[in-house]
Amino acid sequence: MSKQLNVLITGANRGIGLALTRAYLERGDRVAASCRQPAKAAELHALKETYRDDLLILRVDVNLGRSVAAGAEHTEEHFPRLDVLINNAGVAPGRAHDGLEALEMTQVRDAFETNALGPLRTTRAFLGLLRKSKQARVVNVSSGIGSLARKPPEREHYYAYAASKTALNMFTRITASEFKGEGICIVSVTPGWVRTDMGGGDAQLDPAVVAGEMVASIDTLTMEHTSLWLDRHGKVSDYAW
Ligand SMILES: NC(=O)c1ccc[n+]([C@@H]2O[C@H](COP(=O)([O-])OP(=O)(O)OC[C@H]3O[C@@H](n4cnc5c(N)ncnc54)[C@H](OP(=O)(O)O)[C@@H]3O)[C@@H](O)[C@H]2O)c1
Repeated sequence: MSKQLNVLITGANRGIGLALTRAYLERGDRVAASCRQPAKAAELHALKETYRDDLLILRVDVNLGRSVAAGAEHTEEHFPRLDVLINNAGVAPGRAHDGLEALEMTQVRDAFETNALGPLRTTRAFLGLLRKSKQARVVNVSSGIGSLARKPPEREHYYAYAASKTALNMFTRITASEFKGEGICIVSVTPGWVRTDMGGGDAQLDPAVVAGEMVASIDTLTMEHTSLWLDRHGKVSDYAW
């Protein structure tokens, strides 16, 4: 892909979002890197020193409709279109082994708010800019833990996180079918187990490597892929929905 892409990434201040931001900037694309607290996003400000014209740092809390709408307005002032939207921001409240009796319902609500409603809200707010791209792609960062067919092992429950990612996958399918006629490709992508604050230090995968693989596979997305659940290499995920 030779033309410069305009990319928006949520949760871009750390983890996979930061690695994706760096990967797109390093190959010459333009990135609107959104995060809840730009003033504290030291790594993004360091990148801005190098990529002054290609990096826009935005304040977006995906839980808040007004924040997402303001982020979209701000982006419209700087970007003529949006080629790639990566709904990456996510939370994993609660502990994997907590059973139903230990479950805090607020944790379930928080997970759904950020992991399922957040991408829906963000995609809606950025539709105007996505429609201006000739090849718009929306990537919802999912998790294998959200697979209905391959529910996590007995000893792990992940009530809040798992169910919120299952809901996200359904939102991928619904939005993909709604916007297919407009040529907007919408997919779920599973990054694998990545060494970040969420993934933890024992995770197998390096965020920079995963980001590079995701960027390369997002390049190859066409309308043939819309509504699919893919791995970071762009292959149909071996997690059945
Ligand atoms: N790491 C893994 O092994 C793994 C595996 C499968 C899927 N994933 C998915 O990959 C994505 C990125 O995960 P990660 O490992 O990079 O996690 P991470 O290191 O914990 O980073 C999460 C990011 O999401 C942001 N975020 C949380 N709530 C937000 C909100 N309301 N509005 C805007 N941003 C918000 C965080 O911002 P703050 O700094 O402000 O909190 C942070 O930038 C998530 O969707 C996660 O579910 C990760």
